[in-house]
Amino acid sequence: MAPLPAHYQRVISGMRPTGPLHLGHYHGVLKSWVQLQHEYECFFFVADWHALTTHYEDPQVIGANLWDMVIDWLAAGIDPGAATLFIQSRVPEHAELHLLLSMIVPLGWLERVPTYREQQTQLKEKDLATYGFLGYPLLQSADILAYRAGLVPVGEDQVAHIELTRELARRFNYLYGRDPGFEDKAEAAIRKLGKRNARFYRSLRKSYQEQGDEEAVDKARALLETAQNISVGDRERLYGYLEGGGKIILPEPEAWLTPTSKMPGLDGQKMSKSYGNTIGLREDPESVRKKLRTMPTDPARVRRIDPGEPEKCPVWQLHKIYSTEDTRRWVEEGCRSAGIGCLDCKQPVIDAVLAEQRPLREKAAEYLDQPETVRGIIAEGCDAARDVARETLDEVRHAMQLVYR
Ligand code: TRP
Ligand code: SF4
Repeated sequence: MAPLPAHYQRVISGMRPTGPLHLGHYHGVLKSWVQLQHEYECFFFVADWHALTTHYEDPQVIGANLWDMVIDWLAAGIDPGAATLFIQSRVPEHAELHLLLSMIVPLGWLERVPTYREQQTQLKEKDLATYGFLGYPLLQSADILAYRAGLVPVGEDQVAHIELTRELARRFNYLYGRDPGFEDKAEAAIRKLGKRNARFYRSLRKSYQEQGDEEAVDKARALLETAQNISVGDRERLYGYLEGGGKIILPEPEAWLTPTSKMPGLDGQKMSKSYGNTIGLREDPESVRKKLRTMPTDPARVRRIDPGEPEKCPVWQLHKIYSTEDTRRWVEEGCRSAGIGCLDCKQPVIDAVLAEQRPLREKAAEYLDQPETVRGIIAEGCDAARDVARETLDEVRHAMQLVYR
């Protein structure tokens, strides 16, 4: 399916409250959320049920991190006036859709998701041979499809989950989007567009179906969006009819990858809690200084006079994120000629990290002082999210013929 035009798209993303956020989250996900919130209709949520799939033995972890995580989002610049912030478990429609999708997802699809086996091996100390854990990506699909989101900002490790979501949406639409008189109803809906628009729609549909003209789809969608006299159902039907299939009840989302979704940690590997190489989003400055001062460098630089090679040094990875070109040139020359010491080299990174964190820490402090404000933002977000999810579930129930009279 061709991507929907920007103004039609919704964005959704979630984060699991399993520990304090670190700079990897900031560079990897939060910065992109901040960027997207002004361009799209954004929904960001605390994935507490997803956290439970790995922390069912110590659920207190979730409550202990949840509010701090929301404060981290706000500190990072997520604007509750622009984006809807909510908690997954307060929108039970996610669970309902998860259950309904569980009826149609082949077991093999879930067993084949790479994170399923990977995580089981990585988190050996936990028993993840559970129904809930197998269903992790299915719950994620429900999160996304409940909002009929078009874009999902995620890290690279999540792309397989978005792919599963697309396949599920396709399967759902195939199974339940083809009501018997689909073509007739679509043709009747076209006539409701009025003569001129109907002719325009038909010609755009033709050039898409015969020549694969993506621009024509965009134009046709724009036409449908502004069409005055058709119902929501007819509109959806005509979106689906454009591409030849049935009615699109659940649109296929796309992953939106962040350029720096591989923020390096203190050891040069990707920054991640499981590697113990993180710097907290609003970690105490003294602790940040100490971590950076003691982080490993090119092992060839045993003594100050030994030259080094930036490409073999994790500090260099951080310079790539934080330093200007001038500073980077200074590092490359100084390192290879042993003109600078490693502590000298680290100083600009230390300064840059502290400068990045300062406003985050200040903004977080404001919210920490007013827990009621934060609770209020979430309460409002939950209501707004629920309204949207409820609408989708109404349609899903109808499509699955679960509405009895
Ligand atoms: N699985 C995601 C992660 O670990 C979190 C998540 C849950 C999510 N539901 C989602 C992300 C829906 C995007 C959309 O990062
Ligand atoms: Fe790494 Fe800088 Fe030391 Fe070179 S001078 S080894 S880049 S910390």
